[in-house]
Amino acid sequence: MQVLNLLDDKVLQANNIELGEPTGFGGAHGEVFELVGLPDRVIKLSVLYDTFNYRETFQNAFLDIEMTFAKLIVASPSHFVRVFDFSKLAIGRRKVVFGPQEYIVYGTTMEKLFPLTEGEKKILKTICSLYNKDVDDRRPVEKIVSEVAQWYDFPVDKVLTFYSQLLSCPHIHNDCHRRNIMKDSNNNYKLIDLDLVKIGDYK
Ligand SMILES: Nc1ncnc2c1ncn2[C@@H]1O[C@H](COP(=O)(O)OP(=O)(O)O)[C@@H](O)[C@H]1O
Ligand SMILES: [Mg+2]
Repeated sequence: MQVLNLLDDKVLQANNIELGEPTGFGGAHGEVFELVGLPDRVIKLSVLYDTFNYRETFQNAFLDIEMTFAKLIVASPSHFVRVFDFSKLAIGRRKVVFGPQEYIVYGTTMEKLFPLTEGEKKILKTICSLYNKDVDDRRPVEKIVSEVAQWYDFPVDKVLTFYSQLLSCPHIHNDCHRRNIMKDSNNNYKLIDLDLVKIGDYK
């Protein structure tokens, strides 16, 4: 997907966005870029397409995303990438076989995170499987993690903290897998790719 093709340079200028290098090309939702002059931040450019339901549904789908990010900016759960800003950048229309299709391009400015090591990928894959209940392993998580730590190098305490944050968080990420986890400069693990988050209530 080429989000940039859907955006006029003037729109970026008007929003004070100067894109740097791409940090990675994801799949479903967007493209992530560094920001010139802001070395600690990145921006994800995402597109929401009308899926040919009722018009309200498309507009409401965008309102839901906008509302979710507004709440995430305030709540800022410590195991989610920190979000600083959300902006609607453009509304457009493209031709597809069924006729014209509307879309909205939006940008999310976030803290810049860092890739995982091979050992971290291994254990966080296990952590996601436990959290998503893809495996039926009833041993205490500490035991599972310390077993993997015999073979792979990662900070055990940080992994356990991340797991307990996942369990206690009222917000549902909805796309919790290893490729959506990165780390900050203090080795705290954080979920990225927040487009599908459903905000929950704190008890
Ligand atoms: N906060 C971030 N800091 C640095 N790189 C990031 C950040 N968020 C995403 N990326 C990079 O962009 C890629 C795609 O991001 P993601 O939000 O998962 O997009 P998609 O919706 O396409 O899966 C990630 O795999 C990573 O390489
Ligand atoms: Mg992703």
